[in-house]
Amino acid sequence: MPVTVRSYAKINLGLAIGALRSDRFHSLETIYQTLAVHDLVRVEAARGNGIDIRCKNPHVPCDESNTCYRVADRMLRHWKQRAKLTITIEKNLPVQGGLGAGSSNAIATMFALERELKEPLPADDRLRIAAEVGSDLPLFLLGGTVLGLGRGEQVYPLADLPPIACVLVTPSVAVSTPQAFSDWDAFIESENKAWNLTPPDGSVTLSKFNRSAFEWLSYLNVSGVPVENDGDRAETPLLDLVRAGIENDFERVVFPQYPELRDVKRVLEREGADYASLSGSGSTMYGLFRTRERAVQAAERMSAEGLAATVTETLPRNEYRAQMFVK
Ligand code: C5P
Repeated sequence: MPVTVRSYAKINLGLAIGALRSDRFHSLETIYQTLAVHDLVRVEAARGNGIDIRCKNPHVPCDESNTCYRVADRMLRHWKQRAKLTITIEKNLPVQGGLGAGSSNAIATMFALERELKEPLPADDRLRIAAEVGSDLPLFLLGGTVLGLGRGEQVYPLADLPPIACVLVTPSVAVSTPQAFSDWDAFIESENKAWNLTPPDGSVTLSKFNRSAFEWLSYLNVSGVPVENDGDRAETPLLDLVRAGIENDFERVVFPQYPELRDVKRVLEREGADYASLSGSGSTMYGLFRTRERAVQAAERMSAEGLAATVTETLPRNEYRAQMFVK
């Protein structure tokens, strides 16, 4: 029997980029948040050999470079098992849009294949395989609100917070993530030159992010409930976080190259978003809204102006886990 898994999107609630490491990755700090919007990934195993990826979206590679292929291949090797796998991806999320769809598809494949072959992987092996395939995969092993450190692959579950409405807009510009990282390096170098600072160092942005994120965390107990009832902090912990001053550093290098993305951020703010930001390196922009009603109205007005906007909501960890498998 094939197994079908919902493969949810993520956004980044702030993303601070640190120094370039010796392995050519950047240290970074971010808070990931899963969303209710999703692709569907179906895995079917039969006798034989080989991994067949099927997807109707022409932008999705169906060869060995596909993240689903790479995860499934590593799992079969780990088990020293032969099987003929057919992995079908039903695309709903934008490809390379900053919503982590490719990474999420790969983890959906992992959960589906474990169930299809009735062979659960120990947590350490799941994490190792996920991190080998990409920095953004491990967060999808947890879901909900997740602190990402290292190159993004070291993940820590944060308190499960009440859902909040979210509007997504994905302008059709292709932002390359490796290019955005190297643009960031060039930007930091030029800033340091301008201020006559040596050596170039990304630690300033990391410590700024830490201050904001930890200040916010200190208001929540382990269940995500504010420790003190401090005015409007109590109602919307996620809005308190983004209001604490966290930013996505990629905006500093991506907006000058794609001014239309900055325009979308302004439109989201004008339409009442309590917080608007680029997700990852883009091109998806999101806005968080205090109520679903406000989000729907904003999306309708934006769509009427020709800016295709989708309404979704943040997905807490308990729901991420409970709703993942399609019965
Ligand atoms: O890990 P992932 O495959 O998603 O990374 C894609 C590329 O993005 C890397 O090859 C690297 O160029 C860049 N990257 C980075 N620092 C990170 C994550 C990714 O420089 N923390």
